[in-house]
Amino acid sequence: MTARTHPLAIERAAQSKLASIDLNNLQFGRTFTDHMLVATYDEDRWQDVRIQPYGNLSISPSISALHYGQAVFEGMKAYKNAAGQALLFRPHANHARINQSAARLCMPPIPEEVFIDGLVELVRLDSDWIPTQPGSALYLRPIYFASEESVGLRPSARYTFAVIACPVASYYAEPVKLTVTRDYVRAFAGGTGAAKAAGNYAASLLADREAKARGFDNVLWLDGKEQRYIEECGTMNVFFTIGDRVVTPALSGSILPGITRDSLLKLLPTMGVEVEERAIEIDEIADAYRAGTLREAFGAGTAATIAHIASIQYDDLTIELPPVADRPYAPKLSEAMAELKTGRRSDEFGWIVRV
Ligand code: COI
Repeated sequence: MTARTHPLAIERAAQSKLASIDLNNLQFGRTFTDHMLVATYDEDRWQDVRIQPYGNLSISPSISALHYGQAVFEGMKAYKNAAGQALLFRPHANHARINQSAARLCMPPIPEEVFIDGLVELVRLDSDWIPTQPGSALYLRPIYFASEESVGLRPSARYTFAVIACPVASYYAEPVKLTVTRDYVRAFAGGTGAAKAAGNYAASLLADREAKARGFDNVLWLDGKEQRYIEECGTMNVFFTIGDRVVTPALSGSILPGITRDSLLKLLPTMGVEVEERAIEIDEIADAYRAGTLREAFGAGTAATIAHIASIQYDDLTIELPPVADRPYAPKLSEAMAELKTGRRSDEFGWIVRV
């Protein structure tokens, strides 16, 4: 057996908090498991990889992530199969994406041994926390940030990587109401829109708050240059069914390359459904709605899973989507994804990692 380049130390929590948690009544992102993974990059190498009881990290007010936003993150989920075995969904895709995000923000890559092996060990240790009711999962949140104590503007020489875990129910309990904003943009060509950078989410908060004050659940972002093409929702990528064809915005460089998005692009053809990645004008969706050919709209994300879109407010037009029961593909896709993730459907794409 070869020695690990990055040995993993494990300190177990003295007592589990699980008995005090109601896994049938969860608010998204509020409940954390007993353990977390933490690793440090310093002196040009990864070191001190450990699992320890969930708790505060000690950081200095001078760490550069707090000043200049050199911080990225991931979202992924673990499920249980009928035999009670923990399953991770596409963790290698998250590993690849965090390293793409890191590269955009001048951060060093995280080795597979630290990311994947660390996650597997964390999920193994906290596997009793994986909820099993339909729609629920153990949400894993890898965070990666600059932790050098310096306010000089340059890439940090020190970084902290951590993974925390929360049992969650569905992010959206009901079909979502979206509004198109003309006042703000999320991202633009050459920016950081395709990275899972913490700053992208901070930049979306004001538009999101204003949308919520007007009774919407979320913003549907248009492109940053012409405000003409549909991009994404911030919490999820978007898909539309026009006639028999499913369409989703192509990865333009300013859209997050969602792992659920990618999974649906691979799954749809196996269901005999034609799917296109291309530029989609918001006016095309409005025209399809007026012509009666817009049959459904849905979001796709790790937290959101497949979220049915109830309506889209666009200037003076409210696009009302049909009742969920009448939608052609999204309900079937949702079921197929749930079956895959919980081992009830054969893993034809090799997406599942058993813990
Ligand atoms: C995820 O889906 O994992 C995300 O990071 C979206 C976040 C807004 C909850």
